[in-house]
Formats: sequence, C-alpha cells, structure tokens
Amino acid sequence: MAVSFNSLGFVNTREMFKKAFEGSYAVPAYNFNNMEQIQAIINACGKSKSPVIMQVSSGARKYANDILLRYMAQGAVQMARSAGYTMPIALHLDHGDTFELCVSCIESGFSSVMIDGSHHPYDKNVELTRKVVDYAHKYDVTVEGELGVLSGIEDDVQAAKSIYTQPDQVEDFVKKTGVDSLAISIGTSHGAYKFKPEQCTKNEEGVLVPPPLRFDILDEIEKKIPGFPIVLHGASSVLPEYVAMINANGGRLKAAVGIPAEQLRRAARSSVCKINIDSDGRLVLTAVVRKVFNEQPQEFDPRKYLGPARDELVKMMIEKNENVLGSAGKA
Ligand code: G3H
Ligand code: 13P
Ligand code: ZN
Repeated sequence: MAVSFNSLGFVNTREMFKKAFEGSYAVPAYNFNNMEQIQAIINACGKSKSPVIMQVSSGARKYANDILLRYMAQGAVQMARSAGYTMPIALHLDHGDTFELCVSCIESGFSSVMIDGSHHPYDKNVELTRKVVDYAHKYDVTVEGELGVLSGIEDDVQAAKSIYTQPDQVEDFVKKTGVDSLAISIGTSHGAYKFKPEQCTKNEEGVLVPPPLRFDILDEIEKKIPGFPIVLHGASSVLPEYVAMINANGGRLKAAVGIPAEQLRRAARSSVCKINIDSDGRLVLTAVVRKVFNEQPQEFDPRKYLGPARDELVKMMIEKNENVLGSAGKA
C-alpha cells in the first residue's frame, strides 16, 4: 500500500531550499546504507540543529533491502523526535535512473527524488524528467534533475570525464521539466579520486591541491535562473586526516583528492542549496574500523569497532554543518 511522506514525518525540500537560498547556506545531503550511518546523521544534525536530507541510492536499496530501509528511515524520524530534535528531515532518492524507481520510492514514503537523466541526450533527459515531475508533484514530492555529467561513478553508470553544464540549457530545462532543483557539473566528481595528481599542484606540506571549481559557470547559471536551487554532487573533501589514518593502518589509498572546504563554503553561500556527501563518511568509517582492528586485534564485537566509527562520523558531520555548509543552527 502506498504511504505518504507526511505521515512518516518527512518534509519535501521546497521550504528547506527557500530558506537555504535566503540564508546563504546549503543543506547537507548525507547518504546512508546502514544503521550506524542513520544514527550518525540524526545525532549530528539534531545536535547541530541543521536541516538534513537523508539520501539513498539504488545501490543502497539493494544492499539494505528497500523495505527495511524505508522502515529504518521512518524509525530515524521517530528517534530524532524522541531525542527532542526538531530539525526538518527529507528522505531523498539519490541518482534515480528510471521512472519506475522514482515511483517505487514515492509510494514508499520518499519526500524527494532525483531523476538523473544526465547521461541521456538532452531531449530524452527533458522527457524522462518531465514524466517524473508530473507524477511526483501529484504527491507534493520534490524532484531534482541533472544537467551535465560528473566523472566517476553515478550508481551503475561510470563516466570517464566531466561534461560541464551548459548555462544556455538550464533555463529551457527548468521550464520544460518543472524540476524543483538542478544538479550541475562544475568540476566536482564522485568518489575519493576526484582529480589526477597531474591536475593538481603541491602546497608547502606536499599536499595535493586540486584545480578550483568552475565558479564562472555557476555564475552564468545563476544569471539564467536567478534564485533557483542548485545541487552539488561529488562534494566530499576526501578529508586528508582520514585518508592518512586509513593508510597508517594497512590501507592503500593513493593520491585521493577531494574538494577543498573553502570551495564548498563559497558554493554554499551561492545558489547551491544542497551539497551531497557520501565518500567522506565512507572514509571516516573505514579509517576508524581499520585503526581499531590494527590496535586491538583481539576485538571481535562489532559494537567495539562500529561504535567508535559512528562517533567519529557524528564529529565529521557536525564539523561540515558548522564550518563548511553553514547549515548548523538553521533548523
Ligand atoms: O553518487 C553516488 C553515491 O555516492 C552513492 O553511491 O551508488 O555506491 O551507493 P552508491
Ligand atoms: P562524494 O562521492 O563526493 O561524496 O559525492 C556523493 C554524491 O554526490 C552522492 O550523490
Ligand atoms: Zn551524486
């Protein structure tokens, strides 16, 4: 039986993005696949009083089971309220690739969906996105579309190189599709290897510094669709301290480079209203689990390594909300 997002305690992203735009900050969109990630998202955003988008990829639905995942998300809202946290929470489908997947999520209580038609030719992207918007809006579910291609992995689709969003297309796309927000490509990409070492320079400490994002393209886009909510995917910083912790404890992440916090701060002050973060969370969990395994090889209670990993995830998310996205205190 179909269930509405309101009855589960979620909100759609409309009001969130309006406030984010007016307040010059971005709402964090954190991916989750398991209980520890949900607990961290709720506690971090509850404690830092930040609105939050909990997002789920189709891979996450396959991993956790779509029915279990929906009840876990519903439980997350209940847990937040019983802890006294009042922040708005949206449940969002990340990188939906078919109309049917979007319908399935809407029917199971998602308050927002992304239809990612960015790999299709423009007209097909418009047609598919319009179809999803027409369906979603009947239930007041908000829709994110995408124009331009990010390199890296978007669920099962791998793109070898970025194709920046063309500012000349955005107005037409937004008008024709009726989307509520637009994901753009301005130099970010998914995963922990966003740039090749040869694209980067080295600072005094020998740390790789990537080329800046294409804020000139973002400026052009803002001129074409003033005030329209923009979404930044692939926005993990690939935090060097966790990469170092992984490598110091038997891992092998070579030349992993992300988006510097300062670039994200600048984006959050612009019309970018949603910033997607998945890889940084994966790095935190991996780093702490590796450290515990390395330092306490006798340990075999999952709570003893997942617990500290979860606590570190809370710290990382609070830091993002407070010092990068600016969403802390805005709920
Ligand atoms: O954009 C991709 C997200 O990080 C989700 O990744 O498809 O491996 O769950 P996933
Ligand atoms: P990262 O891989 O940079 O965390 O990006 C996540 C993302 O865009 C999810 O849609
Ligand atoms: Zn993404």
